[in-house]
Amino acid sequence: MKVRFIGHSCFLVEDGKYSLLFDPFITDNPVAAVKASEVNPTHIFVSHYHGDHKGDALDIARRTNATIFTTNEIGIEFKKSHDNVVAGHIGGKAKTDFGSVKYFQAFHGSGIEGGHACGFIVDVMGKKIYHAGDTGLTKDMELLKKHNIHVALLPIGDFYTMGPEDALEAVKMIKPKYVIPMHYNTFPLLKQDPEAFAKAVADETSSKAIVLKPGQSVDL
Ligand code: NI
Ligand code: MN
Repeated sequence: MKVRFIGHSCFLVEDGKYSLLFDPFITDNPVAAVKASEVNPTHIFVSHYHGDHKGDALDIARRTNATIFTTNEIGIEFKKSHDNVVAGHIGGKAKTDFGSVKYFQAFHGSGIEGGHACGFIVDVMGKKIYHAGDTGLTKDMELLKKHNIHVALLPIGDFYTMGPEDALEAVKMIKPKYVIPMHYNTFPLLKQDPEAFAKAVADETSSKAIVLKPGQSVDL
């Protein structure tokens, strides 16, 4: 699979005919590597309803008829203007044509009344991606170890989410093959050194950290 970092928590994962777009904060994202009109996903994942995550989700979904995966209350909001929404909930799994999508807990506000933020465990043709969304470190992440996560996308920006030290603890619990940091250096408040995080991962875990600049991609 090809994993492309768009910037902030936005990734495009491509595998054959599937193009999966995570947390598509593009138009108002100061570091975004593309325009919202340039991505053509088949599926879109929205971890929660904060502007730096839902971003352009609805506009892109309506243009491409992509399926949106999100949690229930956020899904109800999207369904007002887009039919193709899979609104599951924490702990549940949706079967899909490329594999499956499991909704995992994220400890963070949802951005919508009564809603829940989530992370996603996405099985794409047999390889599992964990996109953490926005979350603090939780002991629940130990549960991810049994999933044999191929690539974990973890926030390191601190202030609103885990910082680098907590993300390192998360890596130790999740034990992914690869980890890519996200949710840093988009704004001054989120300033972090991803290379220092990558070095700590190399020194203290058996996972491999990959630092991508917005626009860069890697085959994993
Ligand atoms: Ni948030
Ligand atoms: Mn955020």
